[in-house]
Amino acid sequence: MKLWKGRFTKTGAESVDAFNASISFDRRLYRQDIAGSVAHSRMLANQGIISGDEAAEIELALQGILADIQAGKIEFSPAMEDIHMCVESILTERIGAAGKKLHTARSRNDQVAVDLRLYLKEEISGILQLLGGLIRALLAVAKAHQDTVMPGYTHLQRAQPVTLAFHLLAYCQMFLRDAGRFGDGLRRMDALPLGAGALSGVAYATDREFLRRELGFARICENAMDAVSDRDFAIEFLSSASIAMMHLSRFCEELILWSSAEFAFIEMDDAFSTGSSIMPQKKNPDVAELIRGKTGRVYGDLFALLTLMKGLPLAYNKDMQEDKIALFDAVDTLKEVLPVFTDMLLAATVNSQKMENAAKSGFLNATDAADYLAKKGVPFRDCHEIIGRLVLHCISAGKAIEDLSLDELRAFSGQFDADLYDQISVRACIAAKRSSGSTSFADVKKQIESMERQLAAFAPGGLHGHV
Ligand code: ARG
Repeated sequence: MKLWKGRFTKTGAESVDAFNASISFDRRLYRQDIAGSVAHSRMLANQGIISGDEAAEIELALQGILADIQAGKIEFSPAMEDIHMCVESILTERIGAAGKKLHTARSRNDQVAVDLRLYLKEEISGILQLLGGLIRALLAVAKAHQDTVMPGYTHLQRAQPVTLAFHLLAYCQMFLRDAGRFGDGLRRMDALPLGAGALSGVAYATDREFLRRELGFARICENAMDAVSDRDFAIEFLSSASIAMMHLSRFCEELILWSSAEFAFIEMDDAFSTGSSIMPQKKNPDVAELIRGKTGRVYGDLFALLTLMKGLPLAYNKDMQEDKIALFDAVDTLKEVLPVFTDMLLAATVNSQKMENAAKSGFLNATDAADYLAKKGVPFRDCHEIIGRLVLHCISAGKAIEDLSLDELRAFSGQFDADLYDQISVRACIAAKRSSGSTSFADVKKQIESMERQLAAFAPGGLHGHV
């Protein structure tokens, strides 16, 4: 039975019931919806809008409904439209008159807004914990690979030698910023929309401050129309989720490349790979590929909601019911991806020798050879030119710079001395970096310590207080 049937002379077509209903997906908000209703009924009683006995009866029945939903005893049907109507109609079925009073001074518009914010606040806290776990895992691998040398790339061409720890620490920074973004969004969405009514407030002396405290919000939405129209908080979450997925996807792309025979820098664990139905030799990095693929899905969720909202006049419009589909999908995806990615990373085997070999061929020390001359007073542009010619010569001779004799080197510049060889070895190139934030072994140690401090500062309740 429709709770809004009064104005209607016909019952809705069955197909419209199904089309209109959101219960199939918004049922997952039952806990938040009931928590909001309990707070609302307590508030109504405190304010003398309903009696204390009625509120007690409502609350008891709501707890019963909660327990029954959790026990799987409630059958949801499209006729119930959405979770708000569903809870309210079961309540009324169970306790009659008092149940019918619950919706005094409330609208589904402020109800759905409060449910969504409660839901997202909780999910973000969980996601922050997962991100913390990922950063911790990255840091553990980085610590173990401070001496693992690999090529650093630009344009996917070997550029300069770095350590694997340095490369991983770059991702730590990205994920730390992601945590910061989720935390920012969390703080901004921490305002109570309940009490806004349908759009313009309610004609009862309600106590929103009480509701705020009961439901654990930091602030109250100041404008009722904004409170029911706003989905910024969901869009902001989806945007942070998209950026975090973009980082994961880049990392996955690297892991996929690194686990190819062409690189062979790492080997994915069997547990995170799959085989081919036809080619017996294949071991495919499907998990990493799927994470890369799911990134597109989360971007889609962001665009779905941005597009959904862009033409909506204030205040609530039914279009907004669709917001949950995108939001839930992104939350589920992120919660699935973060732990799988973390475990996959921890299980992968690093082939340090292959990485180091790659760092030793391809003239990754050319910049350092140029720097050697520059430090002897040759203008850097000239050094660049000299080493460029030297590299060209080496390519045709099939040699590395350090394979040339001092005489051969001096044909390019009289400034070369025997100490060059020590200064352009792969580890010397790394150790020679002096700028803060560099790949030098010493700076990487500092970066690890700094990251550890930032992680240690994370309260058990989540990262959001600190980043
Ligand atoms: N199921 C609706 C949603 O998810 C709840 C709010 C409905 N409000 C309304 N005035 N029709 O958005």
